[in-house]
Order: sequence, then structure tokens, then C-alpha cells
Amino acid sequence: MKAYQQVANQIRLVIEEGSLNPGDALPSERQTAERYSVSRSTVRRAWRELESMGYIAWADQSSPTVVGPSAWPQKVERSAMGRVSSTSQPGFLSDLMQAAVSPARYNFEIGMPDPDLLPVADFQRIMHELFSYPSRDVFGYSPTSGLNRVRQALREEYLARRQFDPALDQILVTAGSLQGLNLLTRLWVNPGDVIVTENPTFAGALHVFRAYGAHIVGIPIDGEGLQVDLLDAVVRRGPRPKFLYIQPIAQNPTGVSLSPARRRLLLEWASESRLPIIEDDAYGFLSGSPPLAATPGSRVVYLNTLSKILSPGIRVGLLVAPPDLIRQLVSLKQLSDLHTSTLSQLVAEGWLRMGDVDTHISRARAIYASRLKTALKVLEMTRVLSPFTKSGLGFYLFARLETETSTNFLHQEGSRQDVLFAPGEPFGAGPADFRQWIRIAVGAQPTAQIETGLRRLARMVEHHR
Ligand SMILES: Cc1ncc(COP(=O)(O)O)c(C=O)c1O
Repeated sequence: MKAYQQVANQIRLVIEEGSLNPGDALPSERQTAERYSVSRSTVRRAWRELESMGYIAWADQSSPTVVGPSAWPQKVERSAMGRVSSTSQPGFLSDLMQAAVSPARYNFEIGMPDPDLLPVADFQRIMHELFSYPSRDVFGYSPTSGLNRVRQALREEYLARRQFDPALDQILVTAGSLQGLNLLTRLWVNPGDVIVTENPTFAGALHVFRAYGAHIVGIPIDGEGLQVDLLDAVVRRGPRPKFLYIQPIAQNPTGVSLSPARRRLLLEWASESRLPIIEDDAYGFLSGSPPLAATPGSRVVYLNTLSKILSPGIRVGLLVAPPDLIRQLVSLKQLSDLHTSTLSQLVAEGWLRMGDVDTHISRARAIYASRLKTALKVLEMTRVLSPFTKSGLGFYLFARLETETSTNFLHQEGSRQDVLFAPGEPFGAGPADFRQWIRIAVGAQPTAQIETGLRRLARMVEHHR
């Protein structure tokens, strides 16, 4: 047994015998090194061993504390600085999806499409038809890259609408776009690598990047989107980033889109600097403009999803990249998920081929625009919540509390009073922080609910100022 394993074993026995209990801090690195007559680097390795066995964890950067023994082994991702990164996730995320099934009356927490836009009758018809297919075609396994007929429908009925026409072998069908982002990060990012993002940005993306130990550099956005002129300094100043992650249209959480001038600047800059871009186009259907990835010669990997336009529950997304990259991602996808649900893919294809996508998109645009307008009007009257922008698109309002109220407290109070929203902090990529901000998702709430729910929220803010 190596020295570090011996030290880890001895500390483990001390914990198992109960001389050290959950919550107790371990003696310092120096004290431990003296006690077992080993070097400090041996102590660090021993601690890592204990951490991966689920016995200890770091509450901060200094000495670890006892947490175990735990029932399951822990997978520990580390940044270059040796800090645990897999536990530094925004706390609310673990509960976030629970809010999707909450019976709360005013649910502004989750970014979901309007349930009334879900074409239930069409789904019924499509499903009915699917049952007349040979069962293996619907309920059997299918290729990891996605069924060809589905990739074709995505290309012809969805991407082509935005003047984007990738080849079939450039398309990977994913179980939602977050899976695509996860696969790319897993493929490209080592602990300590730099990723550049908008700030604020989608908390789920930051969650993925942090889990792989990335160092995130946030670039501020304003009413025209990412402040592209700040990118150059970031790329020159430090280690070269792996990629830029951006949502050019109706970005989550602010609703801001990249202006045409900034878009041109970004494409020019990206071509000069040769920095790859991951374009997350989850809300792209709200605009008619082509995605960045449609620009010939651009180094853009493209993510999209049917979650926001159709249904998040069917879990169908897509990723567009050069074929050799797709092959690597297919191999990674196979590690945890042999393929995206065959049934879901066929339902998605059925809907795309029905010929009603344009009508659906125009209805969706009109509904979300009117909901945002209503929400903005309410906020204007309340004066305790100021929106990031008054000209955003999509599902969300990002708003600053004009009081000292703690958003975490407000979140708890909101759960008691049937008003759910997302605290702003997890959307922060630093250095600016968004502790006094909240994200209000209005996409799935009818107008009357928005009016009464947001007034109730404003009263809570005033009451706890
Ligand atoms: C910008 C953005 N990307 C990706 C996702 C995740 O979507 P999916 O359901 O396709 O994984 C979301 C969901 O909120 C989002 O807002």
C-alpha cells in the first residue's frame, strides 16, 4: 500500500470508530503530515482518496470536514486548484425541476412553453398512427445519432426555416439540448480550463461547466447582447479559453438578443481569433434570423431543442457540428444513453411533418410577446422590481429588487404564498453578481395569473424590504 493510502486508511478508521463525526473538521494539512510523518502532498492525496470514498468534503478552501461514511462512492471533479467543484453547484438547481410539477398557483419558476400551445389533438393523432407501425420501429432501439427520418425532418422543417441547411451527418439528435452541452463539455473541458460566457447566462449551462471544473469568465451583456468588444482582452490576457458559450436570441435569463451590429462584430472577431463558439439557440424560433452557425466558414457548434417550442417532456434536442465531431459525441452519448427515445423522436417528426409549424410559431411569438408586455406593465406599477430590459423577447423577465430583501428569503416566502420564481444568483458567471435579481418565467402563465401573481410578489418585496 502506498503512503497516501495508508494515511487515508488510518483516517478512515478514526472516522468509522466514531472519534471524528460528520461536521468535525480534520486536523490541518501540517498537523496531519507531522502526525503520520509524511509529506504534505501525501496528506493532500490521502484527503482526495477519502473524498472520493465519500468520507470528507470541503466546505471552503481550507481543511476538509467529515461527511461520511456515505452509502455510495462519490465522483469528484477537481479544478486545477485542487478544489472540489462538483459540490459547488447552485443549490436551487437540484430542486428546480421539482417546481415543474408544483401545484403552486403562480409558478414563475420554470421556463416552459405555454401548455395551451401544446397541440394535444395532433399528438393524439400522431400517436394513434404510430401504433399502426411495426412495433419494432416505434418501441425498438434506434441509432445513437438519431433516426435518419427524424434528422431529415429537423433539417427540412425546422432548421431550413432559419436558412440553416446542415448535412444529415452533421446532426445529432439529443435528449434535450442540455445533453448536447454536457457532451461537448465532457469532450473538451479539463478541470481549470477557461470557458467564456455571457453574464448573466443560463444557470443550467453554468452548472454543467462547473461540474467539469471549468473556470468561467463572464462578459457583461447590455440591451444589445454580449459586449463583444470586451472579448479580445479576455482571450489575450489569460490562458486561451476553450470556447465561447452564447445564446444570441432571447437569452435566458434576460430575454436580450444580440443586435445585428454586434452579431457582425462577433462573427468577425471569432473568425480572426479562431475561438470556437457554442451557440445555444433554444429560443431561436422567436426570431426569423439565421443562427450564427449558418454563416459559411464559422466555427460554431449549434444546439437547439424542441423543449421551448413544443414540449420539454418529450426530451428531443439537436446538435449540429462537423461529422468527425459528431462521431466523437455519439461515442460519448453511448456511455450513458444509447439513443434518444425512439417514440419521442417519431412524435417530434410527426409534428414537424404536419405542415403547421409556421402557424404554431406565429401563435407562440404573439402569446409570449403579449405576456411579457403584461408582466412589464405590472412591474412598472410596482416600482420595487426593475427589469434588465424592456425590449426582451421570449419567456423571461430578469428583474432587480429595489429593496434590501434577500432573494433567498423571498424565494422561501414565495413558496409559502404560492408564488414561485428563480433567484438570480445561479445565473451569474462573475464578476458581477446577481444576488438582488430574480428571474420571472411568464411563458406558461395566462395573462390574469401574471397580473395577480406579480402583484402578490411585489407586495411581498415591499413587505420585507
Ligand atoms: C438557454 C437554454 N438552453 C438549454 C435549455 C435546456 O433545454 P432542454 O430541455 O432541451 O435540455 C434551456 C432550458 O431552460 C435553456 O433556457
